Amino acid sequence: MRTKKPEIHLGLEGIYMAETSICSVNGIEGKLYYRGYSIEELAKHSDFEEVCFLLLNGYLPKEKEFLSFKDALVKERDLDPEVLQVITDTAGKGLPMDVLRTAVSLSAIYDPDVKDNSKEANMRKSIRLISKISSIVAAIGRVRDGEEYVRPEKKLGHVENFLYMLNGEKPSESERRMLDIMFVLHAEHSSNASTFSTIVTGATLSDIYSAITSGIGTLKGPLHGGADEAALRMMRAIGKPENTVKYINDALAGKQRIMGFGHRVYKAYDPRARIIRGYLEELREHASPEVENLTAIALEAEKLMIKKLGKAKGIWPNVDFFSGPVYTHIGIPSSLFTPLFAASRVPGWCAHMLEYWENNRLIRPLEYYTGKTNVKYISMTKR
Ligand code: SDX
Repeated sequence: MRTKKPEIHLGLEGIYMAETSICSVNGIEGKLYYRGYSIEELAKHSDFEEVCFLLLNGYLPKEKEFLSFKDALVKERDLDPEVLQVITDTAGKGLPMDVLRTAVSLSAIYDPDVKDNSKEANMRKSIRLISKISSIVAAIGRVRDGEEYVRPEKKLGHVENFLYMLNGEKPSESERRMLDIMFVLHAEHSSNASTFSTIVTGATLSDIYSAITSGIGTLKGPLHGGADEAALRMMRAIGKPENTVKYINDALAGKQRIMGFGHRVYKAYDPRARIIRGYLEELREHASPEVENLTAIALEAEKLMIKKLGKAKGIWPNVDFFSGPVYTHIGIPSSLFTPLFAASRVPGWCAHMLEYWENNRLIRPLEYYTGKTNVKYISMTKR
């Protein structure tokens, strides 16, 4: 007997799934807070390691506990030989996000806590994942360029070590600081698609590696973490600032999505995009002609999109739009943009998983059935 059709929330739009004290996103005013601290304050005063501690523990560390937290991250940087071998065998062939997803999944097998799902073990595994996933992304970048794996350097900070492992040399202070801020800005964003899939997986009481592997697979999509690479591809396709208006108008007329714009929650300027845009303006004066050209195109596109769709449809730049020119300035190849997003987002994924497990409930929504009922089985010969 068909029940009355309930209200269907496609994409679970507007549905609250849990309470959280990790992150709040004000989509109307374009505001973002991690554990109550505004993203502007954290981008200005904090760094990625401190933000990881804040997200996982809920407060800013005192010096002594911060030093031991950073020490724990440093100890976990190097890769298991078996994981490194899989990266070496596949990074030249596979998509970077597929190699990352595979390497993270494999890493579970070599984790000493793999069978221990206690709170303490999950915190240790979170630290391992934060540390190792950045090393895996750097190793993927090296192998794709036909280079040897660079062992981590204990004395360097997290982001500085990432760039050292990626390029085989230490970064400049301005490159280090800029990428550190990009890691902070990408570290967490409430129940976005990849965090949701992380939680769905963990809510069955599966393990944190399975949960993070789900998150990586989800982040890959161009509607989510894949938009940063897609936005840069568009800027390169536009080629020159003077081509921007025609390109965007033609794309919109063809009902195409302009990557790096729009958001399920922000109906105002994404505060992270505003910060990244600010850095882009700052670095312009000493950028390469390529980055200067990309920046000019990005600013042209922003102006047009805000005029056409900003107030009218609440479609504004999001965190992915200006990231490409900044990463290009730092020398990050576009094939690593989304893996870098994943490496930055690990603390957010883990913090939500640890929090949800405190009050765990299996996630199992309903679907409204509109198919046939009581259909008679007919044998093959009579079909
Ligand atoms: C991230 O959720 C998070 O927190 C994610 C994230 C995080 O930190 O984890 O912030 C990171 O994923 C940012 C978003 C990156 N993705 C993109 O930049 C891809 C391009 N953006 C769109 O695909 C879109 O804006 C979404 C997917 C991000 C959000 O889409 P919604 O909420 O599902 O909105 P929708 O698809 O229903 O669109 C509503 C209308 C549609 O027009 P109509 O059919 O009503 O006429 O707005 C239009 C859409 O066509 N629209 C766009 C557009 N985004 C929406 N039109 C042109 N260009 C766009 N980018």
